[in-house]
Amino acid sequence: MRVQVAIIGGGPSGLFLARKLSLANINCIILEKHSREYVLSRIRAGVLEQGTVNQLRQANISAQLDRVGLVHHGCQIADDRDSIYVNFQSLVGNSVMVYGQTEVTRDLYNALEQSDIDIRHNAQDVSLAGIDSDSPTITWKENGITQKLTCDYVAGCDGFYGPSRNMIPSDIKQEFLKSYPFGWLGILSETPPVSNELIYSRSRHGFALASMRNPNLSRYYLQVPKNEHPDHWNDNRFWDELKKRLPDHAADTISVGASIEKSVAQLRSFVCEPMAIGRLFLCGDAAHIVPPTGAKGLNLAISDVHYLFEALQEYYYEKSCAGLQNYSKRALKRVWKTMRFSWWMTNLLHQFPHQDSFEKQIQNAEFDHLKFSEAAQRLLAENYTGIPY
Ligand code: APR
Ligand code: PHB
Repeated sequence: MRVQVAIIGGGPSGLFLARKLSLANINCIILEKHSREYVLSRIRAGVLEQGTVNQLRQANISAQLDRVGLVHHGCQIADDRDSIYVNFQSLVGNSVMVYGQTEVTRDLYNALEQSDIDIRHNAQDVSLAGIDSDSPTITWKENGITQKLTCDYVAGCDGFYGPSRNMIPSDIKQEFLKSYPFGWLGILSETPPVSNELIYSRSRHGFALASMRNPNLSRYYLQVPKNEHPDHWNDNRFWDELKKRLPDHAADTISVGASIEKSVAQLRSFVCEPMAIGRLFLCGDAAHIVPPTGAKGLNLAISDVHYLFEALQEYYYEKSCAGLQNYSKRALKRVWKTMRFSWWMTNLLHQFPHQDSFEKQIQNAEFDHLKFSEAAQRLLAENYTGIPY
């Protein structure tokens, strides 16, 4: 079997790349380790930058998003005393769309199914060879039988734990990692959201976030110690703690109910450089991880895919390799700016267990500055709604 582009990983990056390639008549295959049900069971952040929404619209997969996505013109940033409303619309003329990543993934699967894209689920032991040649080879096992293909290019869209990144030789690869000393405990609950827009709360008890998926489905998060187990938090404990951390107006009016999902995510920032080697190109979580503060993970994956798609299109339609040669450099520029923002927002809003008194005062000053400076709020709004591609 030979394809033009082999995509490893059927998460948002791989699916979106396949969608764009198929619209441009560039043929591809997706090799995904897990079942579709498994991929769709993963719950992740739900805030789409304006640029992401535009990308999904251009790829003609926004019908559902445009029907049920919630446009947010701003968000609240609170501490124990005050609440700031950061008005994205008036500060930078932009907004974001609240729409779950699971829904984006489902919309992509549906569109790919309609255009008969070859998606191999439960592809085991995917292995790459010859990425320095002009005909890379991929082997994998399907129902116990070994399969093989050759291709022009490989897109490594296989997330943080996939094999693609390991193909970059260690004398070339640089990895940048920052681990934070806490995690986020998240719940989904079938209750109306406490507020029309998101509330990021920097409480002395720890960070909390009030988010949502739709008018009857809320998503809430609490900062918890690193390696905390969700079983230590029954629903009552969660709601009591959340009320302590949210501003009074929200704590007094919140609707509580049984949680339908509860999980803990560890927070870290990670970047791998370069994002390409030979004929292999990394996209999304395979190359970088952001802490969830600011919800940039999916948005970064979509901008990577946009850059890679443009480069592949240039190759197939203009016979130029310039875009592919420049892919890693181009993608990393946006990756690092977004890294900076999610790191900054994480530092601003959390309680750090070993913070010294100087660092605490600086964190307070940063928050105060945000409260009173329109310029500081504009910077937040510009980054939150998404820096240009
Ligand atoms: N072979 C084939 N597929 C693999 C392999 C492998 N060896 N290892 C991992 N995968 C698959 C995973 O099963 C997963 O479905 O690659 C996919 C990677 O998907 P994600 O981890 O969702 O990464 P990505 O598509 O880049 O999406 C980035 O989604 O994961 C969130 O927080 C992340 O929001 C960010 C965005
Ligand atoms: C979410 O709704 O899951 C969410 C929203 C905003 C964030 C992180 C997560 O910053």
